[in-house]
Amino acid sequence: MASRNSSNYRRTYRYLKKICDAKPIIYLTTAIRDKEFIDFFKTHPVKVVVEVGTYKGMSAAYIANFAKTVYTFDIKGYKATSRIWKALKLNKKIRRYIVKSREEMTGIINKLDFDFAFIDGSHLYDDVKADFELVKKCGRVLFHDVSLHPEGLHDDIRRFIAEIGNVKIIGNIGYWNANRNNNNI
Ligand SMILES: C[S@@+](CC[C@H](N)C(=O)[O-])C[C@H]1O[C@@H](n2cnc3c(N)ncnc32)[C@H](O)[C@@H]1O
Repeated sequence: MASRNSSNYRRTYRYLKKICDAKPIIYLTTAIRDKEFIDFFKTHPVKVVVEVGTYKGMSAAYIANFAKTVYTFDIKGYKATSRIWKALKLNKKIRRYIVKSREEMTGIINKLDFDFAFIDGSHLYDDVKADFELVKKCGRVLFHDVSLHPEGLHDDIRRFIAEIGNVKIIGNIGYWNANRNNNNI
């Protein structure tokens, strides 16, 4: 299902990968390192996306190739983020929010209409649960960092997705679809 945007996402991926390869430690945690994340959007159409956990904007940039708009939230801001989006000419499709509190993020997200969410912020159980509760109204939620981690860093996320059930795990991503029983993608 790689669409008319396919040359764009390939170009974006090459650009982001170069950055990751040049500074592997700094970009250790970005989802674009995971092939399953890269492949996911080729077969799962998205329109308006909410992301929790912007970091340097790598995953938001990648997703923006497939989406009309990406709203991305973080508690911290990084200089590299806007530079990367501008270089890829994706800055107009991505709206970044640096929030001071969960209440602030909740207030904004509650007013948004979106059809897909990507959760990749805090990896603590209570935060993952709160993030999910906040975005689940869209019906389709992708979790990052769900694979077994040798130091237990993903344990809270794994516990949470096991609790909600109906999460399809593919490597390091977990996909929850409220309508999976209807064969929706
Ligand atoms: C793993 S990084 C995100 C990586 C990014 N999604 C990517 O794939 O390139 C996690 C980010 O979540 C942010 N974060 C941590 N706690 C958060 C919270 N409660 N709400 C929103 N963002 C949070 C961190 O500041 C960090 O930038």
